[in-house]
Amino acid sequence: MQESLTDRIRELGAVIVAHYYTAGEIQDLAEETGGFVADSLEMARFGRDHSSQTLIVAGVRFMGETAKILSPHKRVLMLDANATCSLDLGCPADEFTRFCDANPERTVVVYANTSARVKARSDWVVTSSIATDVVRHLHRRGEKILWAPDKYLGQYVATQTGADILLWDGACIVHEEFKAEGVEDLKKVYPNAAVLVHPESPAAVIELADEVGSTSQIIDAAKRLPNSTFIVATDRGLFHKLRQTVPDKKFLEAPTAGEGATCKSCARCPWMEMNHLQSLHDTLSQAERMQANEIHLDDGLVEKARKPLQRMLDFRRQQKTVIAQTS
Ligand code: 13P
Ligand code: SF4
Repeated sequence: MQESLTDRIRELGAVIVAHYYTAGEIQDLAEETGGFVADSLEMARFGRDHSSQTLIVAGVRFMGETAKILSPHKRVLMLDANATCSLDLGCPADEFTRFCDANPERTVVVYANTSARVKARSDWVVTSSIATDVVRHLHRRGEKILWAPDKYLGQYVATQTGADILLWDGACIVHEEFKAEGVEDLKKVYPNAAVLVHPESPAAVIELADEVGSTSQIIDAAKRLPNSTFIVATDRGLFHKLRQTVPDKKFLEAPTAGEGATCKSCARCPWMEMNHLQSLHDTLSQAERMQANEIHLDDGLVEKARKPLQRMLDFRRQQKTVIAQTS
């Protein structure tokens, strides 16, 4: 199947932009065919800057919509258009608009894991790798923040920056399941292990972390820290890239309530799991599936949602310029 997929991707002049949580075979195929595997911020940047006119986004719907908003003239295909995200589902645009309207004095900062309509109502879009930096910048300018939808990430950003943040009540069903007690128990067995935590996790888990960060920041920490063992609180899809990047180190899943117990996800995003070789094959070989999995957005909506996304990418570029000048 892999060979015919490679031919089909070339035939379409397409490029795969994959998230670290997708199946390992999808990540490998993306890299073998000139595509890219990254966190949600870098996926957005790569999709926008790549010359290919067809982007195959292996991830969840908000990632496909983000690619379309930043490159409206490109064809954006998902592997399964039903791949959504609990944060996106938990933040309906009409309700969110009423929340913003009731708090007009606040700067609206939304997490990338939201619909295009929610992004269009925001002042800033951020991903987990840049959320703290953007909010610190706004706080220094004296702005109060309205944050949606992930309450754990919002709380974490508030503790890091001291900003006044009004939170929407949303959560990721995967990261919300990590348990501090389980991490503490595992630490007793592996006392020299470093704990790496995605900031969508509850505060009690974040408190135990040696490093808190986005998927790419977790990989960087695994490379950089001297420890040979890591307890990792994020979707288990990331382990593929972690093991490829630092093959001599050991990675352990942070405990949830446990398989067969009460956890909803057991560290597995059900929507990310819709991204595998079969769904890619079906999308690229069946005209109906290709049509159903293409992202279409209204022009007016794209225009409004692009501004806050572009603001994030510009902020990122400026940060990189400053780092380059001072190093
Ligand atoms: P990253 O931006 O860290 O890749 O996170 C995306 C995501 O959906 C985490 O659950
Ligand atoms: Fe959404 Fe959580 Fe899945 Fe990420 S892991 S896509 S935040 S449900």
